[in-house]
Amino acid sequence: MNTSTTPATLLPGGDWALGARTVSRFGYGAMQLAGPGVMGPPADRAGALAVLREAVDLGITHIDTSDAYGPHYTNQLIHEALHPYPESLVIATKVGAERDAQGGWPTAREPSALRRQVHDNLRTLGVERLDLVNLRMGDAASPRSGSLAEPVQTLLELQQEGLIRDLGLSNVTDGQVAEAQGIARIVCVQNMYNVAHRHDDALISRLAGEQIAYVPFFPLGGFTPLQSETLSRVAAGAGASPLSVALAWLLQRSPNILLIPGTSSQAHLLDNIAGAAVVLSGQDIADLDGFGR
Ligand SMILES: NC(=O)c1ccc[n+]([C@@H]2O[C@H](COP(=O)([O-])OP(=O)(O)OC[C@H]3O[C@@H](n4cnc5c(N)ncnc54)[C@H](OP(=O)(O)O)[C@@H]3O)[C@@H](O)[C@H]2O)c1
Repeated sequence: MNTSTTPATLLPGGDWALGARTVSRFGYGAMQLAGPGVMGPPADRAGALAVLREAVDLGITHIDTSDAYGPHYTNQLIHEALHPYPESLVIATKVGAERDAQGGWPTAREPSALRRQVHDNLRTLGVERLDLVNLRMGDAASPRSGSLAEPVQTLLELQQEGLIRDLGLSNVTDGQVAEAQGIARIVCVQNMYNVAHRHDDALISRLAGEQIAYVPFFPLGGFTPLQSETLSRVAAGAGASPLSVALAWLLQRSPNILLIPGTSSQAHLLDNIAGAAVVLSGQDIADLDGFGR
């Protein structure tokens, strides 16, 4: 059960206690605001600023970002659009990978690299303490086994220095989550998961039992938006778009799932919020469950 004492927002899904803060379960992922390949500035800068402001005006209190997006551009847009930040807003960022000139995401998890990334995020977001920092393990494709003790220890030290409020993990295996929990308090896990990719079902259930948030990235399929006959059929029956039904399914999958769908379009943002509020029938959920397994 959620321990939040803040009244639910009007957004679908209500609220969730994310570490020390309460956030709307319907959040916003800012990655796709940068230019093509998540490099450089957006094609429509004014549009990007408008989407960020609209998201917050609609009651969204959880924005996911990284200083590696752009790099720097996405954080700078968030800063320009929203600073000084409303007290209710939680901005989650990630460290553990940087960008190279070709747009790659080389890992950067040595203590000095993590310190540098935390300070870069503080500067570009214009804050004295980061609300939430996820340690990104694995690579662009998936988690990789291996110890995360050293980078978690480094982030714990940065937290103890007052530069980070809460810690989370990204692109991790169940075993890595358990290892990190032996070192520091982990408030969320951000892995790839959606109605078509269900590999983390058991992890989601375990985390729900521990009041830890699970934040699926690529909730709509990411760079290749989800498409399936089942999704389209359920969407037609519910009077919603297929992609927004994928969000409704996530909200109903488990109470600890927080949504961070990305969009550079105000129309898509509104469509996603409206569609995620659709209440799926037991048969809809059974059909969608069958599609992802
Ligand atoms: N931890 C990690 O390693 C990691 C990796 C990837 C992403 N992330 C985080 O997860 C967030 C979500 O992932 P994502 O943005 O890559 O993928 P996503 O949310 O699955 O999908 C975003 C894509 O869907 C499109 N879209 C959104 N709403 C739509 C609608 N109603 N109709 C049609 N198209 C729609 C968007 O295009 P439009 O702009 O045209 O709407 C965008 O191209 C990111 O923003 C980022 O913060 C984390």
